[in-house]
Amino acid sequence: MQAKTLFLAAVLIASQALAEDNRQLATLPPAAQEALREEMQGNLLAINEILTLMAAGKVKEAGQLAETSLGKSAQGKHRDKPFNARPGPHMPPAMHEIGIDGHTAASEFAKAAATGDREKALSLLPNLTGACVACHYSWRTR
Ligand code: HEC
Repeated sequence: MQAKTLFLAAVLIASQALAEDNRQLATLPPAAQEALREEMQGNLLAINEILTLMAAGKVKEAGQLAETSLGKSAQGKHRDKPFNARPGPHMPPAMHEIGIDGHTAASEFAKAAATGDREKALSLLPNLTGACVACHYSWRTR
């Protein structure tokens, strides 16, 4: 009973905190925002696929996918677009930094996974999702 009440209180406090939305607003041009949203949907797909491969013991494949979809190799994919459709340059530096850290984390995971060392790769996996969380909890674009 008491535990249930406590849990409810925690949920209420959490939803109140969410309702306040203390995240900083980054204003991106509409085209850049659209490009970012597309990239994000790809990120979600990639993370899910990487977890699925890891669970199936396909460590090297997980590493390859992490590098090409989220790692340093995936950085600068908007380079050839018009300036107002490139999310990176319009982000405040602190926000952009989190994005770059995410690419680095994915490449570090990929490097460990390429050796087939499952334990090492697993230990680096949370750094990858950590970058998604760090940015989403600090920044919003609308
Ligand atoms: C540098 C900041 C940053 C990082 C890192 C980041 N995101 Fe996002 N993400 C955003 C922003 C900003 C939006 C809102 C875009 C918009 O205006 O629609 C977003 C939106 C999304 C959405 C919603 C897309 C939609 O359909 O509207 C998903 C899903 C998502 N991100 C997944 C991820 C995943 C998974 C990762 C990690 C692999 C990640 N993001 C990393 C900033 C980030």
